[in-house]
Amino acid sequence: MGSPHSGRAPQAFGIGIAGLGGIAEVHLQAYRRFGLRVVAGADVVAERAQAMGERWGLPKVFSGPDCIQEMCALPEVDVVDVTVPHYREARLPAVQAVAAAGKPLQVQKPLAQTYAEALELVDTAERAGVVLRTNQNSVFVPAFTVVHDWLRRGAIGKPYYYQIENRGLWLHNHPHFGWRSRWIIADMAVHHFALLHHWFGPPEAVSAVSAHDPSQPQLVGENLGAVTLRYRDGLQGVVINNWSYRGSKLRAHSHEEIVIQGAGGAITATSAEVEVATLEPLARTYPHVEGDWFPDAFGHSMVAFLQALSDGRPPLCHGRDNLQVVAVCEAAYRSIAEGGRPVSLAEVVARP
Ligand SMILES: NC(=O)c1ccc[n+]([C@@H]2O[C@H](COP(=O)([O-])OP(=O)(O)OC[C@H]3O[C@@H](n4cnc5c(N)ncnc54)[C@H](O)[C@@H]3O)[C@@H](O)[C@H]2O)c1
Repeated sequence: MGSPHSGRAPQAFGIGIAGLGGIAEVHLQAYRRFGLRVVAGADVVAERAQAMGERWGLPKVFSGPDCIQEMCALPEVDVVDVTVPHYREARLPAVQAVAAAGKPLQVQKPLAQTYAEALELVDTAERAGVVLRTNQNSVFVPAFTVVHDWLRRGAIGKPYYYQIENRGLWLHNHPHFGWRSRWIIADMAVHHFALLHHWFGPPEAVSAVSAHDPSQPQLVGENLGAVTLRYRDGLQGVVINNWSYRGSKLRAHSHEEIVIQGAGGAITATSAEVEVATLEPLARTYPHVEGDWFPDAFGHSMVAFLQALSDGRPPLCHGRDNLQVVAVCEAAYRSIAEGGRPVSLAEVVARP
């Protein structure tokens, strides 16, 4: 017997959203724009569930400690979009509840803050035989899709170097950012590592430095991380996430700057624009970009997930693949703890 999702259009799936907080607003905005069908929502906090249900016209909302189980029991919920925080105490029970209901799910990035916790989630889904993927929405940012097309066409030849710089200021005004021992690398640089994984595959080794801005002692996690990635084929790159910058020359998320250099030219991009400089012919090209990171990437990401379910193939950023992205974060933290030693992904996988 074929899958119940086989051959269905993305717009025919019923989506249930588990966790109706800040980022769920962006999901709802994107799904409306892309004509996707949200049939239910769940949040442990009753007032939040009710307010979001009214604002977005959700046909059914659930609240309380068993809200995710109750939502998953609805036959019209085909897939679950998990937007509860990525901390183990919130995410593991959510994934267990959806897996027990036998429904495919995506979880918001990061899959988890540690490799061991990410592995636990992927194992949970695989044991239940459900598809789990991470909503690594950076992969679906329209401008970055354009960059990928030009890379694949060989416009700049073989890439030998890249740099990503995300430079801005974030103060202690967010419910999650910075309040645990891991922050900027696990929660923010993970966007960039997922994108690089999609473009170039897994690096062989990672080294990193981090800093904690002394003017923000309230924050617990590191708010600056510079990570160097080295690949088997000679490619090297640097990913800098600095959210303690007090100057005016910002490259702030979601318009961080990406530079990729190849033997035949360079690509420079943000989520709003792309420049391709080539040596042969000697030219600068500015391809058209349709849409932005917020909210479009979230719509493209969900459409890609549903299309993969419909086609019966593993979705981009599926859980087991995404473990390699979390492994880059884990390797970076190990490198920081050991004075910048290059840490291989193989080492992280062997000793989670
Ligand atoms: N660009 C991006 O992709 C992006 C941006 C922001 C946040 N995020 C990710 O989205 C996730 C959520 O972040 P947020 O800013 O929306 O947080 P939030 O605190 O605003 O929302 C989380 C919601 O989940 C609910 N919740 C918690 N535990 C629950 C449970 N057991 N059952 C049901 N509901 C539960 C909370 O009540 C809250 O409403 C995080 O993992 C974060 O990293 C991703």
